[in-house]
Amino acid sequence: MATIEGPVMTTTDHEASATAVKLPPGPPVPRTFQGVVALADRRIALQILRRRYGSAFSLHLPIFGRMVVLSDPGHIRQLFKLGADVADTADANLGRVMGPNSLFALSGNRHRAQRKLLTPPFHGRRLAAYEAIVEREAIDEFASWPHDRTFATMPSMMRITLNVILRAVFGADGQELERLRETLPPGIQLGSKLALIPVPQWDWGRWSPWGRFRQYRREYDAIVDRLIDKALADPNLDTRDDVLALMLQSRYEDGSPMTRPEIADELITLLAAGHETTATTLAWAVERLQRHPKLLDRLIADLDSGSDELLHATILEIQRTRPVIDVTFRQVKASAMQIGQWTLPQGQTIVASIGLLHADEAVFPNPRRFDPDRFLSRPPAPAEWIPYGGGIRRCIGAAFATMEMRVVLRTLLRNYVISPSSARDERWQSRGVAVAPSRGALVRIQPRQESATVIG
Ligand code: HEM
Repeated sequence: MATIEGPVMTTTDHEASATAVKLPPGPPVPRTFQGVVALADRRIALQILRRRYGSAFSLHLPIFGRMVVLSDPGHIRQLFKLGADVADTADANLGRVMGPNSLFALSGNRHRAQRKLLTPPFHGRRLAAYEAIVEREAIDEFASWPHDRTFATMPSMMRITLNVILRAVFGADGQELERLRETLPPGIQLGSKLALIPVPQWDWGRWSPWGRFRQYRREYDAIVDRLIDKALADPNLDTRDDVLALMLQSRYEDGSPMTRPEIADELITLLAAGHETTATTLAWAVERLQRHPKLLDRLIADLDSGSDELLHATILEIQRTRPVIDVTFRQVKASAMQIGQWTLPQGQTIVASIGLLHADEAVFPNPRRFDPDRFLSRPPAPAEWIPYGGGIRRCIGAAFATMEMRVVLRTLLRNYVISPSSARDERWQSRGVAVAPSRGALVRIQPRQESATVIG
């Protein structure tokens, strides 16, 4: 397909200096066909287009419309530097599923104000307070793992990360913890599927998927109301570390507190954004590590010596080679926007392809090789390693997720021996929110002491 051009108006400094729309090239086939190919395997389809058209190309998909896909680190750095008035979230359905006060649904000043309130709990000293919760959950879950057979670890990782968020973020225990544990996973799973399709214009009733989702939501709101009542009645509220307690005590610049609907929408947003993503990355860690026995030996020796430097580099490499969110979206809000040599019109959807950038030979030599050592001597540049996106929408839970993965993997490696495997790599499978290992990260383990005795 030839470069697409047309007239456009410009208004601000950030915007296009040229006056004509100039989109990158893309495949000259009908959009239905492009849609079928993208649905069959989005990752492979993007790789083929990258090879054919270069680091920027256009795609035209049914329902989603025309998209400009970027994977050059320079273009992505430029995109992530833009203010919300030039490019912001692509009005995704995810926001509508999480509620009108969700970070996913907000933009501009309201988005900035909410982020300001939500950022402190996920940084610094607060994070250290959550480590004990993570370690406890990991120890309890690993205790249920069989020692005599291969099993899938994904369900366990989902349980660990769910429990961690319910305790550390929701501050839940007792009855509320149990109810949230039961109702949230199916509710979120349904919500993440509904997020991929437009909201219907008419009401299909309580048995329709949207009707069922509304029922989950009503029950969820009632539980959060009870959690808020309990927290407000807690004489030790000001010494609590959970995010709900911090939200209740936080104040906007004008001195007003967060409202109950705001708190409910943000809690479910944090859960939806942080539960499956972290669990899936942990599952990929198990899938990768057993295929690299020498690295496993080095990791154990490093941890035994009291260092977690190699573990940190390994997590970076897992997220480079298996980014569980492989694309993130923006939409042009200005009347036009210049990026590289391209001029994009207002409303244009932009896809920052995390997967393509991480697999770029020019950025990461020998990109298919799983090699944590590449990060031992050189931490990744922020515009090149982007599993958490970037700019005004960068993942708010990045430091929390890194802490959680470090503690879970450290606990696993210190207490268990992962049997090396020569099985084929597990394929990538989309689970709605995240891309997971297709067989659920199969593994065989033994308690470390027991295996030392066996070997000895
Ligand atoms: C390995 C785990 C995780 C990965 C790979 C991940 C990845 C991402 C990505 C790619 C984005 C979009 C960024 C952009 O558009 O530039 C995002 C946004 C977000 N993430 Fe995460 N995330 C993870 C864990 C978490 C955790 C643990 C939390 C909170 C408990 C969280 C909360 C959020 C929120 C609230 C947003 C929306 C930010 C906004 O729109 O302002 N994430 N995440």
